[in-house]
Amino acid sequence: MKLFSFIIVISFGALALAQVPHCPEPIGEQAYAHPENCNQFFLCTNGTLTLETCENGLIFNGKGGVHNHCAYNWNHETECAGRYYDPTPISSESCEYQFGIYEDSNDCSTSYLKCEFGVAHQLPCEKGLVYDHRIHGCNWPDLLLEKCNPEAVVGFKCPAKVDPRSPAARFWPFPRFPVPNDPHSLFLCNEGHPRLIACGEDKIFQADTLTCEDA
Ligand SMILES: *[C@@H]1O[C@H](CO)[C@@H](O)[C@H](O)[C@H]1NC(C)=O
Repeated sequence: MKLFSFIIVISFGALALAQVPHCPEPIGEQAYAHPENCNQFFLCTNGTLTLETCENGLIFNGKGGVHNHCAYNWNHETECAGRYYDPTPISSESCEYQFGIYEDSNDCSTSYLKCEFGVAHQLPCEKGLVYDHRIHGCNWPDLLLEKCNPEAVVGFKCPAKVDPRSPAARFWPFPRFPVPNDPHSLFLCNEGHPRLIACGEDKIFQADTLTCEDA
């Protein structure tokens, strides 16, 4: 029981410093940072305290939703600062860590691998996006010009010139164009490279104004 008096409570979001000799809440589930170990945390389940260990590749940063209150270890330098952190990977298949997000190819790819318990699941990026390992997510292909051809990914070639009187010119230096057969998206050109932009839920692209408007 002595151990529990050392627990520093870091609740979700807010940093509340308090010492709890027991679980402060009698019902529900609450997770609290371990003061010394970033791979572990304390879990209160209906008032019962247990010491939990994050799966390999995950840490406790107070806002983890990947698995059992834990988050990916990408920002462990800052999020684990001052606490012990074990960087040892347990690798299998295409997964460096048991939990993680990885590229499925060194080439430009419109999909990526999501590892759970060491099993890789291939997931597609949203239409028009490619996997960017720097952000562990999908991104515009014109931000990865070293390996991606945005025209091939997006399926649109930006015109070299835009008629200054045309509707597209109003959005210069990011001229816009309609997407054939897709009223929920638009093409945008950024320094001559196309991006496919989704209008967002319940919005429709209006060809006359070249903007997304409420349906
Ligand atoms: C916690 O308590 C609630 C309400 O009494 C109950 O429904 C739930 O199953 C309990 N959870 C656990 C993990 O025991």
